Amino acid sequence: MFSDLIERVREASDIVSIIGERVALKKRGKNYIGLCPFHQEKTPSFTVSPDKQLFYCFGCQQGGDVFKFVELWEKTDFKGALEILAERAGIPLSSQDPREQKRYRERQSLYKILALAARFYHHIFLNLPPGKAARDYCQRRGIDRETSEKFMLGCALPGWDNLIRFFAKRGYKAEELVKAGLVLPGRRGGYYDRFRNRLIFPIWDQRGRVVAFGGRVLDDSQPKYLNSPESTIYSKGKNLYGLHLAAGAIREQGWVLVVEGYLDALTAHQYGWPNVVASLGTALTHEQARLLSRYCRRVLIAYDADTAGQEATLRSFRLLKEAGCQVAVVPLPQGSDPDSYLRAEGAAAFGQLLEKALPPVEYRLKMLQDQLDLSTLEGKMQATNSLVPLLAETDNQVERELLVKKVAGALEVSEASLWAEIRQYRGRKGKRGREGDRIPGKRYNIDRDFHNPPKKPGITPAYLRAQEALLTFCLHDQEAREIIVKELSWQQFTAGAHREVARALWLAHEEGQFTPAGVLARLENTEAKALLSRLSLQDETILEQKERSIRDCLVVVKRQQLLEEIKVLQEQIISLEGEGKSTDKANLLIELIEDKQKQLHRLE
Ligand code: UTP
Ligand code: MN
Repeated sequence: MFSDLIERVREASDIVSIIGERVALKKRGKNYIGLCPFHQEKTPSFTVSPDKQLFYCFGCQQGGDVFKFVELWEKTDFKGALEILAERAGIPLSSQDPREQKRYRERQSLYKILALAARFYHHIFLNLPPGKAARDYCQRRGIDRETSEKFMLGCALPGWDNLIRFFAKRGYKAEELVKAGLVLPGRRGGYYDRFRNRLIFPIWDQRGRVVAFGGRVLDDSQPKYLNSPESTIYSKGKNLYGLHLAAGAIREQGWVLVVEGYLDALTAHQYGWPNVVASLGTALTHEQARLLSRYCRRVLIAYDADTAGQEATLRSFRLLKEAGCQVAVVPLPQGSDPDSYLRAEGAAAFGQLLEKALPPVEYRLKMLQDQLDLSTLEGKMQATNSLVPLLAETDNQVERELLVKKVAGALEVSEASLWAEIRQYRGRKGKRGREGDRIPGKRYNIDRDFHNPPKKPGITPAYLRAQEALLTFCLHDQEAREIIVKELSWQQFTAGAHREVARALWLAHEEGQFTPAGVLARLENTEAKALLSRLSLQDETILEQKERSIRDCLVVVKRQQLLEEIKVLQEQIISLEGEGKSTDKANLLIELIEDKQKQLHRLE
């Protein structure tokens, strides 16, 4: 029963999505690769296999299945990982804590209500005659049918209680709808719909569950947008609009475009940029930056060119850098946003604009050139003060030098004085601790690396390499597995982890239920789990010339075994001689040795 539950949770927890929500992954052949979250590295050696549902880091040798990943990531045990994944998958684990149970049920009920409401609004938008006002509005704004379906656009009709009545018919009370943020209590009793006569944008979390709504007026009246209040399932600053739709493209392309508004996101998707999300409001938050950094390392920002947009852009630099992302700003002309630019200039022009995205220092310099009089001393000083932190935080030395040259030229100050300012700034920072070192996720890696230092790859003896190769064949190829299982027993694998993996493999094979994750589930030892993951994700070029390699490996393993056995027999003879005991026994041992030597001969 319990293991049944574990399997259900496993099935609902795709390892690429789970890891992908936390680590930026890139497709590489059949697998995904990324920077290992469990040790510091600059080139990715962390591999995730969708087929095998396993991960392995070739750098620090941690590996396992989706449960193991969550254990390591959340620093919890198997039970903790199971709870987290079950909750994510919406599979109830009978928790003992009644308060916990209640919260869980409330959240599930919110998801259900919001999903139903999204379908209600969308149905009106697509199919009902009174939805025409919203349809016409979208048509005027150039949103096509495909886009409005992709984003599940909806229509809230003008009346006061359309949604209340729809839900009442399905047995929902108004109080529940209040909790879901869809309905408000009236001043003199009664209830009314929050969203009326508006175009509705459902807002999803990164797992694609509807968690809130935004509603736009269909004309120029105010307020332009109404939004759902925050709730136990929705927190504005932690969410990015469209992320569940964009995630795959972001991962595939390795960069994301962040825009401000719903319509900017819709239009960008429609014009061929599926890797766009909206921060809905202005400044990006720390949580949003962290969220993005799980998907990719390169972030382009295309906020409105007005003052608020510029401020928001500046604030996002530090946050994104702290989250480990590289930033550049799309130089939208004053007065336009991505939506209006795309409509007016088209996709090709927008593409060119993206190419011209400016790194933080250059963006700031351009802003300052527009705002200040750089020919005055006052202007130069203000500009220097504002640029020095950005220059100091540019990690790449070559880039920093080029930027210093550029800035010195633009401000007409000497490079030497700029360098002096940078050094001074770094000195001040140094005393307070460098900001960049305070990345929460990274900090715990330092901790982990301390307690669990990555093993140095030593020299592996040939017979162990052969054993590994045989296990790898078994994992990748059924035909090979059948040959090997017939030729060897799992006891013939010598090292502890190898033997445990072999045992699990042989058992799974005998039971005819062979999947790498199934084999992994039989392992207890962390080292064995890591070994299995590594072998499962190993380069499959090993499968070329399969038959010859298998034969070679079998010979090496068997040979090693015979040599070991001969050594044991020889030691026994020596100890017999030492004790001066019967030569009969010694003669028997010698015969045995000769027999083994013959076998050895035949092997070679
Ligand atoms: P914008 O005013 O740029 O709106 O606000 P927009 O998305 O470009 O919409 P159009 O093009 O005028 O139709 C950017 C974002 O700020 C939030 C919304 O999330 C909006 O998408 N906002 C704006 C509000 O929440 N309330 C408002 O009254 C205005
Ligand atoms: Mn707009």
